[in-house]
Amino acid sequence: MRLIFIGPPGAGKGTQSELIYSKYRIIQLSTGDILRLNVKEKTELGKQANEFISFGKLVPDDIIINMIKEELDDPKFKNGFLLDGFPRTIPQAEALDVLLSNLNVKLDKVLLLEVPDTEIVTRLSGRRTCRTCNRTFHIVFNPPPNPADCDRGICDIYQRDDDKEETILKRLQIYHNQTAPLIDFYTNKNLVAKINGTGTLEEVFQQIDSILMQL
Ligand code: AP5
Repeated sequence: MRLIFIGPPGAGKGTQSELIYSKYRIIQLSTGDILRLNVKEKTELGKQANEFISFGKLVPDDIIINMIKEELDDPKFKNGFLLDGFPRTIPQAEALDVLLSNLNVKLDKVLLLEVPDTEIVTRLSGRRTCRTCNRTFHIVFNPPPNPADCDRGICDIYQRDDDKEETILKRLQIYHNQTAPLIDFYTNKNLVAKINGTGTLEEVFQQIDSILMQL
């Protein structure tokens, strides 16, 4: 399956991608994760991207589109992918159309995860991420394991720099201005499936599961 996840920052795209992978083995391609890895490894891309990420701004389209082109060439995405965090602007969506048409493949669904802004602030300010396995947790809703009980090795839990309240509000504003227009873009292609992202992790996954089972 070839899927896109659209939703505001902190809607639960990363969390649900993990559950989708557990059941369907669809590999997530998260532009945010790739960028953060580059920032950590201090690559040229990482240095360029960090100036934007840390202020909650979008990284310029040309940088992101080149990055995605290289990623989609990886044979592991030959049979499908779940794009998380890309596309985020209309020019990125148009570039993806060209890329997919060159690969002679089509999108199966765009999953739109809807969560109100007030809930986003609560979620992101309590989010914690593991440096070792990249899983995301929440101090209240999905607490990280004790290091001794971690089933994937040693936990190294941290809070992302862009999860400060001021930056969260900026990211939300950018989502509404630059990313939300993609909803019409993909509705016109009859690809959008709406998901109410405000339930428990399991309730949200059940909705996604019932959509994917029909594909
Ligand atoms: P990116 O990493 O893509 O961030 P984002 O879209 O802002 O999304 P998040 O990863 O913050 O949230 P999520 O929806 O995955 O939520 P999560 O599952 O963690 O991008 C970061 C930056 O990189 C951007 O700001 C930009 O600078 C740059 N960038 C990336 N892609 C780009 C692109 N294409 N173009 C330009 N720039 C780009 O969940 C959040 C929290 O909520 C967690 O704590 C979780 O435990 C909790 N939670 C999840 N589900 C529930 C639930 N049902 N109930 C209660 N809590 C829940």
